[in-house]
Amino acid sequence: MRASRTSPTGVERRFGDDELIVTKTDARGVITYANDVFLRVSALTEGEVVGQPHNIIRHPGMPRGIFDLLWETLRSGSEIFAYVVNLAADGAHYWVLAHVTPSVDAHGKLLGYHSNRRVPVPAALTAVRRLYDELLAVEARFSRPAEAVAASRALLTERLDTAGMTYDEFVWSLSPEGVAA
Ligand SMILES: Cc1cc2nc3c(=O)[nH]c(=O)nc-3n(C[C@H](O)[C@H](O)[C@H](O)COP(=O)(O)O)c2cc1C
Repeated sequence: MRASRTSPTGVERRFGDDELIVTKTDARGVITYANDVFLRVSALTEGEVVGQPHNIIRHPGMPRGIFDLLWETLRSGSEIFAYVVNLAADGAHYWVLAHVTPSVDAHGKLLGYHSNRRVPVPAALTAVRRLYDELLAVEARFSRPAEAVAASRALLTERLDTAGMTYDEFVWSLSPEGVAA
């Protein structure tokens, strides 16, 4: 069952500080590989995941603007670190600090994408939730997704400009060591 059709229960799921949640996708973002940690934490089977688009675990608490930034960054050939809350098939949610990278062949041709996700430093999530809630509130004012994304990206840029940071710098300002101790 797709997690994104499940209503969130509000139950937060943790995974081990020493664990990595890994998925690989093709160039369109369709999942080609998921490790056991992903399947366990997302309460999904390999058969439910492989061949599905990555929004299978999309949580309604994730702003569209952040995914827009993610795809824009990946399509430009760059990697991105991002805080993401995901929805498991049983309604639980889990926060990750994701590192998503394009995979290219020897000629630079795009093969797909790769995401490694670690447990974020808990203290980082206060600032992340505050920012994401602001973006969600702006997005909720628009019925057309394109308008919601544009407004969300504009607010994100404004908040980051005020702080004098890129999104990448924002991410690392919250967890200087990168991952939970
Ligand atoms: C390698 C890779 C990993 C991704 N991981 C996630 C993820 O863990 N959770 C998520 O909601 N979206 C993830 N996405 C983004 C989704 O493709 C999608 O943009 C997002 O879920 C928003 O879906 P929507 O456009 O249907 O709102 C990932 C994309 C790529 C390329």
